[in-house]
Amino acid sequence: MSPLDGKRIVLGVGGGIAAYKIPDLARRLSEVGAEVRAVMSESAAAFITPLTLQAVTGHPVTKGWPGAAGSPAGGDAMEHISLARWADLVIVAPATANLMARLAAGAADDAVTALCLATCAPLIVAPAMNVRMWAHPATRANALTLQANGAALVGPARGAQACGEFGDGRMSEVAELAAAAAALLSAGAASLAGLRVMVTAGPTYEPLDAVRGLTNRSSGKMGHAVAAAAIAAGARTTLINGPGTPPPPPAARVYNITTGREMLAAVEGEVDAADIFIGVAAVADFRPGAPRAGKMKRGANVGRAPAISLAANPDIIKTVAARDPAPFTVGFAAETGDLVRRARAKLRAKKLDLVCANRIADAIGGDSSALTVVDQDGAEQLGPGAKTILARQLMAIVARRYHAKHPG
Ligand SMILES: Cc1cc2nc3c(=O)[nH]c(=O)nc-3n(C[C@H](O)[C@H](O)[C@H](O)COP(=O)(O)O)c2cc1C
Repeated sequence: MSPLDGKRIVLGVGGGIAAYKIPDLARRLSEVGAEVRAVMSESAAAFITPLTLQAVTGHPVTKGWPGAAGSPAGGDAMEHISLARWADLVIVAPATANLMARLAAGAADDAVTALCLATCAPLIVAPAMNVRMWAHPATRANALTLQANGAALVGPARGAQACGEFGDGRMSEVAELAAAAAALLSAGAASLAGLRVMVTAGPTYEPLDAVRGLTNRSSGKMGHAVAAAAIAAGARTTLINGPGTPPPPPAARVYNITTGREMLAAVEGEVDAADIFIGVAAVADFRPGAPRAGKMKRGANVGRAPAISLAANPDIIKTVAARDPAPFTVGFAAETGDLVRRARAKLRAKKLDLVCANRIADAIGGDSSALTVVDQDGAEQLGPGAKTILARQLMAIVARRYHAKHPG
């Protein structure tokens, strides 16, 4: 049975080209047993008709405002509230730049925004817009605000756009949105109210000389998604953030660091207060042993490269787990080969509560991944799916395990 069977889902449709895909999303959700209703913004009706959505959902569709021209005759004048209460999940798709701005500002100027403001149900937002509209700082800030307010962003995806450009901005495929809905609803709500969570994210940069260094391709996206999920679960969240990552979730307390040793110092400065520690950062295992103060010059050494000696960096997760008392400690491991075996070895060697293993090829840099969550008793597969959704699923597991370990 699908986790969506019997679930009540409201689709909030915005005025973008990708609106033509929403009837297909409604159909897919209905096929696995979900009850679907649709609400559309005034401009969404310029892209698809309410009649199409009515045909696939089997229910009248509210456009703009209940009672406004185009709303279902005899409709409930308080439909935005009754649907907000009815919903187990709201999916805003396509979330146009304008609709995201209205949602982020807390506007309630049509049935879609009013519904989102009034609902207690989880919210998935699927951005869809021109690549430059998505890249604009105003849109990025709105995306962060929505996440900080608890929404799970899925996408946008990268690819050719209707406007002829190429880049990030396409709405995620409807199959991915349906999978995200299933994952979010099957994970259940995570409650970490009153708890403190510390998350590390991104790469470290280990200087070799004044301008060069060793780093890795970690984007920080998974760590930020985990921090956002902790915030959404009600935890006071501290993020120790490596260099070159996107802007972090605004509701987190953020310490920006560069090297592994700086990350350890920032962690040790506050970890005493943390109930849960989640090490997502890709901390360099080794750093140049003798970094030069100036810039290494080719000089007289043409054709002869200098040797680089490496020194071991601190193992931050192991250091945290070895504290007494230690927080509930979760480690991330990018691996190749047998994930479960390697994750279990790491769990034992570092005395962790949970290890999340992912494949190096899937995990680094992108917006999607898959996790194998391993503890002493077994392994659970999450995804593949959007990192934002994986983070919510993981947080539900962490919350359950934390409360089981610390009853009352
Ligand atoms: C042909 C056409 C396509 C559009 N596609 C998009 C789009 O994909 N994403 C977007 O953010 N805005 C798009 N717009 C602009 C939105 O329709 C406009 O900002 C509108 O006010 C959004 O309304 P909403 O807030 O109800 O979604 C498009 C406009 C036109 C005329």
